[in-house]
Amino acid sequence: MAKDAGFNALGKQRKRIAETNMREMFAADPNRFQRFSATGADILLDYSKNRIDEEVMAALFELARAAGIEERRTQMCEGEHINITEDRAVMHMALRYQGEMPITVDGKDVMPDVRGVLKAIEAYTNAVRSGEIRGHGGEQFTDVVNIGIGGSDLGPAMVTLALEPYTRADLRAHYVSNVDGAHIHDVLKRLDPKKTLFIVASKTFTTDETMTNANSARKWIADALGEEAVPNHFAAVSTNLEACAKFGIREDRIFGFWDWVGGRYSVWSAIGLPIAMAVGYDNFAKFLAGADAMDRHFLETPLERNLPVIMALIGVWYRNAWGFSTHAVLPYDQRLSRFAAYLQQQDMESNGKSVTLDGKKVDWPTGPIVWGEPGTNGQHAFYQLIHQGTDVIPCDFLIAARPHENLPPHHDKLVANVLAQSEALMLGKTKDEVVAELKAQGMAKEQIKALAPHKVFPGNRPSNTLFYKQLTPEVLGSLIALYEHKVFVQGVIWNVNSYDQWGVELGKQLAKALLPKVKGEESGAGHDASTQGLLGYYLANKA
Ligand code: F6P
Repeated sequence: MAKDAGFNALGKQRKRIAETNMREMFAADPNRFQRFSATGADILLDYSKNRIDEEVMAALFELARAAGIEERRTQMCEGEHINITEDRAVMHMALRYQGEMPITVDGKDVMPDVRGVLKAIEAYTNAVRSGEIRGHGGEQFTDVVNIGIGGSDLGPAMVTLALEPYTRADLRAHYVSNVDGAHIHDVLKRLDPKKTLFIVASKTFTTDETMTNANSARKWIADALGEEAVPNHFAAVSTNLEACAKFGIREDRIFGFWDWVGGRYSVWSAIGLPIAMAVGYDNFAKFLAGADAMDRHFLETPLERNLPVIMALIGVWYRNAWGFSTHAVLPYDQRLSRFAAYLQQQDMESNGKSVTLDGKKVDWPTGPIVWGEPGTNGQHAFYQLIHQGTDVIPCDFLIAARPHENLPPHHDKLVANVLAQSEALMLGKTKDEVVAELKAQGMAKEQIKALAPHKVFPGNRPSNTLFYKQLTPEVLGSLIALYEHKVFVQGVIWNVNSYDQWGVELGKQLAKALLPKVKGEESGAGHDASTQGLLGYYLANKA
């Protein structure tokens, strides 16, 4: 079956399944959970609360095969330049590979270099954490500030928060990304330059936000401790080793990676240095091993039991057959509070595309808007819309079986809430049920008539639940890799290049052109009326 026929088949499946709902499907099949759940790398995926049955899933797997998922996966693993617009291989899996086989990119086994950088990270991290490497005046580092943006920030920042139980109180990691001076100002105001180590993280080492922040940090150290202190307070992570050296970073404090690692897939590379600083190298190594376990699952499990494939196909089902445009990621795990923000870059920068690999306009929807916040906070904010709004929003719920804290009854309550949410979304509440409930409360008939429509829940609202034993470094690695592979599978089905990001370029170009006008050095003439008006307001009101 050709892929277009596969999309058409989804349309037919939608018509068929729209005649029933999940409440009926659960009532008719006591084995629905067993039928539509799977495990991989110690993560349980329950996808039974979706608008699916076996026929729908069969059509989706057929679509995946028609799109050539298995072939594309092999191409990726073999180092083919599947990032065609940048002519690059996509090999982030090599960064966490735990096996002994060579992994070849452009004719070279990259594993010795990958392991060499990991060894250097381990040695440097251990030396900073033990106090063997100290600041210029001989004081032990207490604070590590990572300066980076996008993939050079979101991954390490999210992971450091997630692995808080593995951190040390006397060595804190901070993240500065925004070019807004408020960001670096507010981070530095509580820090002591004598005890602060900066990591400048930038794949290209040219990103304006990062270089601006790095220069301000450099000045902060030089002003406080003297220019000669700078080399002892900076490390760098980049593919552009020359630019790092030019900035004044000591050669042995520069940690490299390679152009076959995309920014948003780089948390496994030296970009993870601040994670290793915060949680120790051994935990960083476990994080890599967890991702590798998910890679093995993705590469070796038949599509029908393959977690990333299943999640990707369900996403395609809602995006292409139902037209749902957003996807909520709702961790019932406070420490995953930046997980949705991380996934926004991973997913939306990857699949927010509207031309096919051969440059033709797509005529099907591609990547959804990804968003979310941790439960239970979200329940008291935006869940109203998820339950009763006019849009249907497929959700992923994430929850650990075991908390890190011994604080009963917190975790049981958290679990009760996450189970309640997916159940409520699926079941809804019919008008008859509402009326019966209000009658039982003794409400008058007229009042019931007025109130009942507001209390009806449409139900049949879809969700996945991801259950894991505990949020350990291994599990976190597996979770992130799961979503990475999901994005890959969807990109193949949508026939887009998931590994470039040209959409961020125009804004960068225009900001560069506008800077002299914002500074008042050049006239804004030639810009559109709105831009000129805003520029005028700024120039009239800046201090
Ligand atoms: O936003 C565009 C982007 O290129 C991202 O893909 C990347 O993660 C980010 O900028 C930062 O880039 P760099 O690591 O080169 O500073």
